[in-house]
Amino acid sequence: MTAHIIDGKQVAATLRAELATRIASLGFRPGLAVVLVGDDPASAVYVRNKDRAAGGVGIAARTIRLPMATTQADLLAVIADLNADGDVDGILVQLPLPAHFDQAAVINAIDPAKDVDGLTPTNAGLLAAGVPHLVPCTPKGVMKLLAAAGITLRGTRALVLGRSVLVGKPVAALLTAADATVTLAHSRTRDLAAECRRAEVLVAAVGRPEMVRADWVADGATVIDVGINRLADGRLVGDVAFDECRAVAGAITPVPGGVGPMTIACLLENTLLAALSRRR
Ligand code: GUN
Repeated sequence: MTAHIIDGKQVAATLRAELATRIASLGFRPGLAVVLVGDDPASAVYVRNKDRAAGGVGIAARTIRLPMATTQADLLAVIADLNADGDVDGILVQLPLPAHFDQAAVINAIDPAKDVDGLTPTNAGLLAAGVPHLVPCTPKGVMKLLAAAGITLRGTRALVLGRSVLVGKPVAALLTAADATVTLAHSRTRDLAAECRRAEVLVAAVGRPEMVRADWVADGATVIDVGINRLADGRLVGDVAFDECRAVAGAITPVPGGVGPMTIACLLENTLLAALSRRR
């Protein structure tokens, strides 16, 4: 079997076009503030892409760049200002923050109504309780790719590899809400390969280059690769060994061009949703 390749670029472009149409009819521009601390080059690229994509759908985006020497108190003051700014509908603090920050306390300072990353305890709690409001962007993108590929989730055995707050845990919650039977596997799971082989839907979000091999994938399974790993030779690869797994899977996302573009498109959607519910 050769897998259907799920084209995240295409699905994201369709979503962005829909968002642009909806935003054009609003009569106001939703506002997004992205906060970037320090000079991590990968983060700088992500933030530039977010800024550009926001402008492309009619969102007024601003990036607040803060030096590495910024203190916790300085950053909390910036967030307090953005919380109070009526033109700002969405606030995103690019992660990871430099090591001297208490990341959880920073996220907790964001007004949950403006938390377009869906990471505040309020939004994480609403998702866990089955009444989601703002849902983390990458997990939301994963669900949209599954829907676009026509994958049935009800009653399906799904396995999420990785238990991060940003991806693994919220993906598991969303798959559960979609009536899949979900296993959340991680670095301490006994016999990961065997667990993965049982899955009809496999979502890999561990940040380990090409960890998922062909003999971890069931015949015909749907494989969603959230990983983006830069190899020493400069190549960008996922958490899934794409070339060998596509020969076994029924459907699979590439890296790049799979989940990545969906994350940004979903951030834009969350900004619109936050703007609509704040300004109601
Ligand atoms: N860094 C990598 N992915 C993300 C994300 O989805 N949100 C934020 N804030 N930072 C990230």
